[in-house]
Order: sequence, then structure tokens, then C-alpha cells
Amino acid sequence: MTAMAAEKPVRVLSVDDEEGYQALLASIFKRNNWDYKFAGCGKEALEKVKAWSPDLIFLDLMLPDINGFEVCSQIKSDPATQHIPVIMITGLADNDSKIKGLNAGANDFIAKPFDVMELMIKANNLLKLKEFEELKVKNEILTEMFKAIEAAKKDWELTLNCLEDIVLLVDKNEKILRCNRILLTLTGKSYAELLYRNWPEVLQENGFRQISSGSNQGEFSHPLGKWFLYYSYSVKEAEGTNIAKVITLKDITERKIIEGQLVQSQKLEAIGHLAAGIAHEINTPIQYVGDNTRFLMDAFKDLHKLLEVYDNLAEAGQSHAELQEILTNVALLKKEIDLPYLREEIPKAIKQSLEGVERVAKIVRAMKEFSHPGPKEKTPTNLNKAIENTVTVARNEWKYVSEMILDLDPDLPLVPCHPNEFNQVILNLVINAAHAIADVVGNGATNKGKITVSTRRKGDKVEISVKDTGTGIPPEIRSKIFDPFFTTKEVGKGTGQGLAIARSIVVDKHGGTIDFETEVGKGTTFTIYLPIGNGSK
Ligand SMILES: Nc1ncnc2c1ncn2[C@@H]1O[C@H](COP(=O)(O)OP(=O)(O)OP(=O)(O)O)[C@@H](O)[C@H]1O
Ligand SMILES: [Mg+2]
Repeated sequence: MTAMAAEKPVRVLSVDDEEGYQALLASIFKRNNWDYKFAGCGKEALEKVKAWSPDLIFLDLMLPDINGFEVCSQIKSDPATQHIPVIMITGLADNDSKIKGLNAGANDFIAKPFDVMELMIKANNLLKLKEFEELKVKNEILTEMFKAIEAAKKDWELTLNCLEDIVLLVDKNEKILRCNRILLTLTGKSYAELLYRNWPEVLQENGFRQISSGSNQGEFSHPLGKWFLYYSYSVKEAEGTNIAKVITLKDITERKIIEGQLVQSQKLEAIGHLAAGIAHEINTPIQYVGDNTRFLMDAFKDLHKLLEVYDNLAEAGQSHAELQEILTNVALLKKEIDLPYLREEIPKAIKQSLEGVERVAKIVRAMKEFSHPGPKEKTPTNLNKAIENTVTVARNEWKYVSEMILDLDPDLPLVPCHPNEFNQVILNLVINAAHAIADVVGNGATNKGKITVSTRRKGDKVEISVKDTGTGIPPEIRSKIFDPFFTTKEVGKGTGQGLAIARSIVVDKHGGTIDFETEVGKGTTFTIYLPIGNGSK
């Protein structure tokens, strides 16, 4: 018999009401190791066909209830049983019965009394045919399933390939199991070349550079001017064990460009904003330089009068007679112009004016250096000087609410950086500090707060910190403060760009770090580390 039959015995239903035949058939079935059941009438036959689903049916025509034709046609009209081959047992040369049997759907006939050999051949032929039919059906099902799997695979491929982001499936050893088309484009490699390669190696070989990294997150740049944000997700089995990882590299180039533009526009905005404060800063010294100069002009007029009288005195010395009168005039004039006062005040006015002029010059110099576009490349920069300049131009932003303490390390080495961008970072932090203090002490405060900006060398890095005695940052917003456009300030006071820009400048452009410590009600310290080496970009 067939392979299938070898695994699972053939199941035969014999429908006959004659016990003699049943005994004969039973001996044949046993010899062949077939599993068999008997039905003595048509009704029982139909029930057993349904319940047991045999592989083959021997059906006698003469049954006590329903005749064999009717039983056959019911089996063949039921989709659940119509595939079961039926051998009809007819009388010898009974042609009419054969035609009726064929009409009822019988698959073959055998005459009583039957030849065992013929019965076996016919039975085996039909069993093979059935097996073949079943295989055909299974094959069709498999073909359909395969088509459905291919279609689903194609759908996923199309979905992943239309993304600008890189998507990878990697195994536990970081080897690529799947990837989408963008990786092929960016590496110029075929799918086969990328398969089973270590993914960080593939990126590195193809010019990707890791800019920053966290546990499951980081940033990469690509020589085509693209930027990617990398995330890793664990693929877990039902029991929770990690079996693979999905890596996505999200294209954030556009965000980076916008951030760059933001830095530029925020700088222009800051200069515009500071200009009003600086005008005010310059106004005070200029006012007293003007007052002093007017005073000096008047004082000089007075002195001039006195000098004229002294001239006269000198001349009168020649003729003694007028001397007495002139000396009286001198005494009167001295009193009139208050000579001791002038002697005391004139040097003071000159000194104060010089100080005023020096202050104006300092502000102008700081403003010039603050707003200088700076070179495209990083330059070795004196960060202490940059901090002093920035604090000077921003004086009007903090002086009403806070005192400013500069605790700058005199031995700080020059640090490679874009000075104007560094200024921007300090400005943003100082303004944030002043705002946080104003929220505590109120504007026009009598009790001022304190901002301390300090610098230190820490190994191969420089530490810059901006500490304030402001409100502190509430726990619920701490994770958001570096997000672009996150602000708690009213319209006109803040747009939420300050820290996002500071982070982008420190981390992305200088390969540094920026972090903070804060306590509500006590204040906040932002700490920056910049590498003294060449930075990252
Ligand atoms: N020193 C600080 N003390 C307390 N809260 C702060 C401090 N620095 C920042 N924050 C909080 O973080 C938020 C975001 O700061 P960020 O500098 O990015 O934006 P902003 O100051 O609101 O607006 P912008 O800087 O664009 O004018 C602030 O609105 C504030 O709530
Ligand atoms: Mg700010």
C-alpha cells in the first residue's frame, strides 16, 4: 500500500446486511491490516460515513431500509463526504444497476460473488486515486498559502522600502538579518552583500560617524550631509527572552538644518533684544560724561576769568599803585568761583569721565566680539574672555534681579570652539538664570539673587557651570526642557528654543555634554563639558 497507508491504516466501511459476506470481508480487511467498520442498513451507513469519514466504502445495493443508489447519491452530494470512493457491489452482468450506480456517483463496481484479487486491485486503485486527490488539494492549499506569504512579505518590503529611515533586523550578535532599501542606497551595496554583516561595521565602513550615544539611542552623521537618530528595540519571544533587535536610523537631516537656522536666527534675535539693554547701559556713563564735560566747560570759563585777573596782577606788579585794588579783586573772584571746590571737583570729573569712557569702550568691545560672525572652523578660544563679554552685553538682563559672580579659572587652556556659538550658549543660560531668579525675587528686587559662572579644567575637558538661586526646575518638566519649543514662559518672554539650541551647539557641534542639577526652591546649576582636544566636528 501507499506510504500514507503505511503510517495510518486504511479505514474501510462495508455496508451489507448479509453476515456471511461481512465475515468474508472482515477476513480480507484483517489480512491487509485495514481498520474497518460495518453498517447493516443505509441509515447506519450514512451516520458512520459522517462520523468516521472512511477512506473507502463497499456498498451493497440491497439494504433493508434505503437502497444502495440512494445511499451513494447522498454520500456524493455532501461536500464533506463526496471525495470518499464508493465501490458498489452489484449482481452479475447487471448493466442497469451499473448505469444507475454511475449516475449515483459510484466509483467502481464489483459483482457478487466476488474475486478477492479483483476486489483488492479495485480497492487499492481507488485508494491511490484518493490519496492523489488529497495531495492535489493539499498542494493547492500550500500554493495559496505560499502566495499569501509572498504577498505579505512584498507588502512589508514595499512599506519598509518607501521609508527614508533605515530599518534593520539584527540577531543577538549584531548581524543583519533584514534591511530596507535606503541602506543599500547609502552604502552602494547589494542586499546579499549586507546580509549577515555586523551592522555597526557596515555603517562605519560606509562613512557613517557616531556623534552621540546612549544605551539604546544615539546619533549618526553620513557624508552625504545626512543625520540619523538611532534607536534599538528588543524583539522578544512570548516568554520574554530577547531573540533579536530592530534597529531604526531615523533621518533627522531636516531637523538638523532647521536647528542650524534656529541658532543663526536666535543669535540675530538676541543681538536685537540686547541692543536695547546695551543702549541703556551706554546711556548712563554717556550721561555723566556729558554732565562732567559741561561742568568742566563752565569751570574753565571761571578759571579763565581768574587767570585774566592773575594776568592783570602780574602787569600791575610793575606799577605798585594799582596792586591793592587788584588783590581785592582776586580775593573776590576766588570766592565767587569757589576755587577750592573747583580744585577738588575738576580732577574728579576728569577721572569719572575717563571711567565712563572706558565703560562705554568695554561694552562696545564686548558687543563687537559677541556679535562677530567668527570663523567657519573652530578656533582656539579663551572661554573666560567669551564669558566676560557675554555677561557684559547681557548686563541689563540680570542686573536688576541678581549679582553676578565670575569664578573663572585663570589657567584655563584655550578650547577649540566656535566662539560666537559658545557665547550664545552662555547667554541663553544666563538669561534663563535671571528669569528663574526674577520669579523668586520679583523685578526691581531689593533682595537680589546670585548667578555664578565658573570655569575649571577637568582632565582633558573644560567644565563651565552657570549656577543660579532661582526657582529650580519642577520634576515633571525636567525631561522636557531641552525639547525644541518647550517653554513655561509667557508669550514674548520665551519661545523654548534656548536650551534646545544650547544642547545642539554643545553636543552636536562641539562633541561636549550639557546637564543640570536642580532643587525646587533653591536653584539650578547647568554644567557643560567641552573637550580640550579637537572636539568632534
Ligand atoms: N535656570 C533655570 N531655572 C528654572 N527653570 C529653567 C531654567 N532654565 C530653563 N528652565 C526651564 O526650561 C524651559 C526651557 O528653557 P529654554 O531656555 O529652552 O526656553 P525659554 O527660556 O522658555 O525660551 P527662550 O530661551 O527661547 O527664550 C524654561 O521655559 C523654564 O521653564
Ligand atoms: Mg531660555
